Amino acid sequence: MTASRIALVTGANQGLGRALVEGLAARMGPDDMVLLTGRSHRRVSEAAREVARAAGTRSRVEGRVLDVCDREAIARLAGELRTRHGGVDIVLSNAIARLLPEDSQAERADEFIDVSNTATHAILRAFGPVLRPGGRLLVVASTLGTLGHLDPRLHHLFDGVSLDQVEYAVESWRGAVHSGTAEEAGWPRWLNVPSKVAQVAAERREGDLADGTLIASVCPGMVDTATSRPWFSDYGHAQSPARAARAVLDLVLAERVAPDHYGELVRFGKVLPWYSGTPPTEQDRILTP
Ligand SMILES: NC(=O)c1ccc[n+]([C@@H]2O[C@H](COP(=O)([O-])OP(=O)(O)OC[C@H]3O[C@@H](n4cnc5c(N)ncnc54)[C@H](OP(=O)(O)O)[C@@H]3O)[C@@H](O)[C@H]2O)c1
Repeated sequence: MTASRIALVTGANQGLGRALVEGLAARMGPDDMVLLTGRSHRRVSEAAREVARAAGTRSRVEGRVLDVCDREAIARLAGELRTRHGGVDIVLSNAIARLLPEDSQAERADEFIDVSNTATHAILRAFGPVLRPGGRLLVVASTLGTLGHLDPRLHHLFDGVSLDQVEYAVESWRGAVHSGTAEEAGWPRWLNVPSKVAQVAAERREGDLADGTLIASVCPGMVDTATSRPWFSDYGHAQSPARAARAVLDLVLAERVAPDHYGELVRFGKVLPWYSGTPPTEQDRILTP
């Protein structure tokens, strides 16, 4: 990748997203620009101002309001970057809706699916075509994003299917949650499992390696953030957001793409096998990284 690159991170005013912006701004050059995006004007402006002033920051950092539930806003921003800059070099789809252990998973399903899945589909559709040669579009998923975490009855919905078909599967799941038939159809109660599998499935079929572009998913490992904290009693193994961002950014900023990473779920530089994992039990934590 060359100078004057543009990077964009969603859900970036706190947690891992913010650490990804900080890492990009420290590791990219003075001619490059990092767009810190999020849904609240105040939170985005404050975070962007703080990162721009931080000692390690080298690149330009700008805050942009982008609610990832607003598909038109995603398309508008992609169009603007194409018109003004000829495209974008790095897109990290990171936003997630925060669920607390006491929340009803069914009642929060719409928001959760909209932020993680509908948004991922919109980002792939809008930003995939405007990635500049050598670009990177990474979806932040988790170890729960492998097919084996789903009941075998659901595998055909996500295995070797198109983005349209993933979208259809996600909407079927949403419908089953609303009609109270999800569990009997094999969908796990924990929203995070089908959501992460669908995120990984969504990018498994996209794009083209020919010009060094990489579209893939990443698993950051366990990260100490406000979203994950309520789910864990033992934080002994949790990484700081800055630490977790490092391996993700090693992948993003690598000069060359490893062909076997394309369309896969990558954790600490290694591909997680798509068919691995076992369906979670009631006792399992939803945010197991
Ligand atoms: N933490 C872990 O242990 C862990 C493990 C594996 C994977 N991950 C993945 O890492 C990613 C980041 O997680 P995190 O722990 O850093 O979460 P976090 O600290 O809660 O950050 C989530 C971000 O998403 C934003 N967001 C929520 N709804 C949005 C919307 N509609 N539009 C735009 N932004 C929105 C939030 O903005 P507000 O500040 O406005 O709420 C916040 O900035 C997620 O994809 C998660 O699945 C995390």
